[in-house]
Amino acid sequence: MLDLYLFHGNSHPTLAKAVADYLRTPLRKRICDSFADKEIHVEIGENVRGRDCFVFQSVCTTPTGSVNDHLMELLILVDALRRASAKRITAVIPYYGYARQDRKDKPRVPITAKLVANVLVRAGIDRLLTMDLHAGQIQGYFDIPVDHLYPKPIFLKELEGYNSRELVIVAPDAGSAKINRSYADRLKAGFAIVDKSRYATDSSQALTLTGNVTGCDCFIIDDIVATGGTMVNAARLLKEKGARSVRAAVTHGIFAGKAYQKLADSEFEEFIVTDTIPQREDVPDIIHQVSVADLIGEAISRIHLQQSVSTLFV
Ligand code: R5P
Repeated sequence: MLDLYLFHGNSHPTLAKAVADYLRTPLRKRICDSFADKEIHVEIGENVRGRDCFVFQSVCTTPTGSVNDHLMELLILVDALRRASAKRITAVIPYYGYARQDRKDKPRVPITAKLVANVLVRAGIDRLLTMDLHAGQIQGYFDIPVDHLYPKPIFLKELEGYNSRELVIVAPDAGSAKINRSYADRLKAGFAIVDKSRYATDSSQALTLTGNVTGCDCFIIDDIVATGGTMVNAARLLKEKGARSVRAAVTHGIFAGKAYQKLADSEFEEFIVTDTIPQREDVPDIIHQVSVADLIGEAISRIHLQQSVSTLFV
């Protein structure tokens, strides 16, 4: 058994357990609950002196707590491990909440993704393992090692079996053009891009399409689905432009508000999402979940054994 200590917060116990199973290691004992006034209470239940510790926590909202509760749990777990003399602490954050607030895009706004990086490092993490950050540059907010995974191997598997001459990979906005282009090149498929305009934090419009999708099967790949607006608008535009079918693959499924219903009523035939964020029980059939547990587990194993993780980055 690997001599590593895997702890987890409360945001995503199912994925934490699947990662532990991949590693054939137990989830280590800890108490992570709250006092009557909702202050978080943490106790590490094992001796971690000199140990290589990993703390698993998706920083997202779930029925057990908000994105803020889960961030705070993570910080307190890290603090407890540091004060208990862990040798190294790696934060394993499949979904890094606040990543969308990554720059000053207008006057007098915070860069909250950087603030989160600062507090994580200040709490005591020595390295970060995370997945599909909204902007890759967020890695640079940390002056510690960051291993940044993409679900590309998982999505490529889902795309096997399509006839590349009739397949078009579609970027739903300019920000996702590079990653979508890399899928298209890899699959020798066509490429198209939607010109999206965001007129408020939670609303956007798909304006025009560059590329030909007539009679083709379209796959839209993106990092986040939140309200579902970006995806639903893009799918409608693709259908208007003559696409035969429209599917999507997204890393982080926030599905806020009425997003489930919106997608169920949309032009999509299938909507693939990884399990970096747990889904509610009423998840519609159109949403097909794929697991990142093995990918994260393998990365943890390689970090612990000081092996290269670059082959996982594809
Ligand atoms: C934006 O740049 C992101 O990549 C996603 O496209 C966006 O966060 C999706 O948001 P929504 O589902 O609310 O349109």
